Amino acid sequence: MQIVDIDFCVPGDIKSLVGIEAVCFDIPWEERLIERDLNEPGSAIYLKATVKGEIAGYGVLGRAEDTAHLMNLAVLPEYRRQGIALQIMAAFGEISEDWQCRRMCLEVRSNNAIARDFYASIGFVYLSRVKGYYADGEDALVLTARLPLRLG
Ligand SMILES: CC(C)(COP(=O)(O)OP(=O)(O)OC[C@H]1O[C@@H](n2cnc3c(N)ncnc32)[C@H](O)[C@@H]1OP(=O)(O)O)[C@@H](O)C(=O)NCCC(=O)NCCS
Repeated sequence: MQIVDIDFCVPGDIKSLVGIEAVCFDIPWEERLIERDLNEPGSAIYLKATVKGEIAGYGVLGRAEDTAHLMNLAVLPEYRRQGIALQIMAAFGEISEDWQCRRMCLEVRSNNAIARDFYASIGFVYLSRVKGYYADGEDALVLTARLPLRLG
């Protein structure tokens, strides 16, 4: 387990987040989208996990009524399997409870077995499939978990 610092992202983190996107996803989020979010108060919450000054991973959480929506989560390959995503999710769990949300939901690529294993390990279950959700035509699986999350 790597104990990390979890904090809110700031506009100065944009380049690091873009770098994580490029390494972690075939279709990365665009810089202008991240820039817009970080410069617009009241939009999604961006949290970063920092190890010795380097952003090792980050996540994005939004909210719709009583449901928190995990919009993104990524950890650099060299930092994986060290509990970093779990620590980001623990922080998002606390924020969701502050928001008085009852559940958290997310979309994950149907062929992303590692992410599906990760989410299953913290109590997410299958809710539905959205055909052709992603830009390349892949289906999304919608997963949901009751709050508080089961973080062991
Ligand atoms: C999914 C992802 C965020 C997990 O990050 P991580 O920091 O490595 O995850 P953790 O170390 O906190 O893992 C916690 C648990 O999840 C499960 N898990 C994580 N990675 C796994 C893997 N490769 N295989 C099987 N189970 C895995 C395990 O139960 C693990 O606990 P353990 O290591 O004690 O067995 C990371 O693999 C990633 O960034 N992937 C690419 C981007 C992506 O697909 N994001 C999800 C978009 S929906």
